[in-house]
Amino acid sequence: RIPLVIDTDPGIDDALAVLLALASPEVDLRLVTTVHGNVPLAQTTDNALRVLHLAGRSDVPVAAGARDSLVHAQPERAGHVHGASGLGGVQLPPSPAALVPRPAVVALAELLMSSPTPVTVAAIGPWTNIALLLAIYPEAADRIGRLVLMGGSAGRGGNVTAAAEFNVWADPEAAQRVLSAGLPTVMVGLDVTLPTVLDAEGIARFAAAGHVGATAAAILQQYLDHARTAYGTTGVVVHDALALTEAIVPGTLGTVRRDVVVDTTLGAGRGQTLVDRRGVSGSPTAVEVAETVDSAAAVEFLVGRLEALARA
Ligand code: BDR
Ligand code: CA
Repeated sequence: RIPLVIDTDPGIDDALAVLLALASPEVDLRLVTTVHGNVPLAQTTDNALRVLHLAGRSDVPVAAGARDSLVHAQPERAGHVHGASGLGGVQLPPSPAALVPRPAVVALAELLMSSPTPVTVAAIGPWTNIALLLAIYPEAADRIGRLVLMGGSAGRGGNVTAAAEFNVWADPEAAQRVLSAGLPTVMVGLDVTLPTVLDAEGIARFAAAGHVGATAAAILQQYLDHARTAYGTTGVVVHDALALTEAIVPGTLGTVRRDVVVDTTLGAGRGQTLVDRRGVSGSPTAVEVAETVDSAAAVEFLVGRLEALARA
């Protein structure tokens, strides 16, 4: 089983991504680190604890990370998308588990240095914690087996501004640091997440399978309502769950090695990922950019796994 760390800002699709990891025998979720993002850090941390507790997995350690972005305060949160609590207005029971009494970046470095096998890190919130790891513990960062990032966009524009995807927009300087680090990185951006839509029928399947599934469906209701009013769609884009699928089953997504730089200026392009599509890059800091996806298969994978988790 692949040792896995999820760095997250729950967040509705983050919650789903964590549940997907717990439902997947290919990976061993060893640590959850939290970051500012969709809602403030105190809330993303509490939500992470509660989601693990919901699945009966309060044994997975949770460490709290960065409260804000590296250089400029995060310009905007996403409470209007994820509900004021971050979990679509659903009140999950509080977890009895205590937080790891060390900052996320320390807990992550310790795990990376002590793991006998390479660790996959899935970063599905703003990438501030990963940038801090690179700055403080570069030798630990070098031991990351695979870094799967949810964020950015090669050709689909942005979702928070015309140019920027939310996780990159929330900390562009961190994103630039992470994308230029030369780590074995897959960038799972809007190009593959936007076409991957979980519809009401899929949600109904895991909702009917048991308590965890029904709760996940309740959390998703807010997201569905938002999608309906904002985009007129009858399904939801569960960005982070698709990134987790790539972390769990490497090669799920079709990727191409490309140079990516982040617009860190303060103008209208701030937070845009500039993906060099002129050719396959031989540069040592290029990353694998996810460009193709079998969306129907990805949604079926997610629904099937959540159904099984709910039944267990
Ligand atoms: C990303 O932004 C957040 O709102 C989601 O949780 C996801 O990580 C999508 O742009
Ligand atoms: Ca997220």
